[in-house]
Amino acid sequence: MSSKILIIGACGQIGTELTTKLREIYGVQNVIASDINTRNLDLVNAGPFEIIDAKNYNAIKDCCKNNNVKTVYLMAALLSATGEKYPMEAWDLNMNSLFHVLNLAKDKVIDKIFWPSSIAVFGPTTPCKNTPQHTICEPTTVYGITKQVGERWCEYYYKKLNIDVRSIRYPGIISHKAMPGGGTTDYAVEIYHEAIKTGKYDCFLSKDTELPMMFMEDAINATINLMQADAERLTIRSSYNLAAINFTPKQIFESIKNHIPEFSITYKPDFRQAIADSWPSSIDDSQARKDWDWKHEFDLEAMTKVMLKNLRQKYNTDH
Ligand SMILES: NC(=O)c1ccc[n+]([C@@H]2O[C@H](COP(=O)([O-])OP(=O)(O)OC[C@H]3O[C@@H](n4cnc5c(N)ncnc54)[C@H](O)[C@@H]3O)[C@@H](O)[C@H]2O)c1
Repeated sequence: MSSKILIIGACGQIGTELTTKLREIYGVQNVIASDINTRNLDLVNAGPFEIIDAKNYNAIKDCCKNNNVKTVYLMAALLSATGEKYPMEAWDLNMNSLFHVLNLAKDKVIDKIFWPSSIAVFGPTTPCKNTPQHTICEPTTVYGITKQVGERWCEYYYKKLNIDVRSIRYPGIISHKAMPGGGTTDYAVEIYHEAIKTGKYDCFLSKDTELPMMFMEDAINATINLMQADAERLTIRSSYNLAAINFTPKQIFESIKNHIPEFSITYKPDFRQAIADSWPSSIDDSQARKDWDWKHEFDLEAMTKVMLKNLRQKYNTDH
């Protein structure tokens, strides 16, 4: 039996599109999608799918052994905003799921892991402009703490046990398929939906809050390119900084307004403002560009065009 890929948390914002792309590359039957529920029916019906709780070591192990899975993409997590509401659940899921896949590699069941970190590893004491790869990381959210600790464990397993684990510190990811799952950068997805559906948006961040962001297609390409890169070229086994575009709510609003002149916005910052304020406004990703030739394609204008085109089709409107 040829070796297979397992995606845990495949029904989420990133997992949905990662699964589709991996299936295009490796074949539908070679990529098993899994999640804790079947809410994303398009994905569930598109190829092999299993219900797997990322906190259940035996469930992951059985799936890997039964299907000769050798590579795992661990996408299940509780994100930044939800993590602040359920801190212990975030710690439990984000840490234990990572230990499970790291230990599966240690036990030689699988031999390659992708685990995403986040710009949430940074905090208010981090230099916030052009944040370096190696810098102060004092995160103030539970989510950020889990990502920071996760990075340390990834590097530890690589150095002590030679586990091939690879990671990216994703910025805010913008996409038009699955909705985002409770992060602080969700506004940059919601704003496109509301522009098409209602012509107005009430933003939960203030108008000048600049954050690092990326269009989904770039994020998926980065993920797959990192996983395909020669191991010898990789110098970072904690997690790579990754960047594409930085913008504020006002700038994304103006980019949409160029296409929908009657679009309007109001700003009503909530608890997510404090989270956003603790994160960098731009990221230095030169190490990723050097080590595995990372290059982004989409700027704000290109992304706005694709988002509006696809959402107009989705909502069946030429608004
Ligand atoms: N989306 C972003 O902007 C962003 C930015 C930085 C990092 N990340 C990271 O990328 C990864 C994927 O993020 P996403 O945006 O796709 O998240 P998401 O919330 O959209 O999806 C997570 C998926 O995990 C599933 N899940 C939850 N609990 C589970 C469990 N116990 N067992 C199995 N599955 C479970 C959910 O049902 C969901 O389908 C996460 O590690 C996240 O921290 C995302």
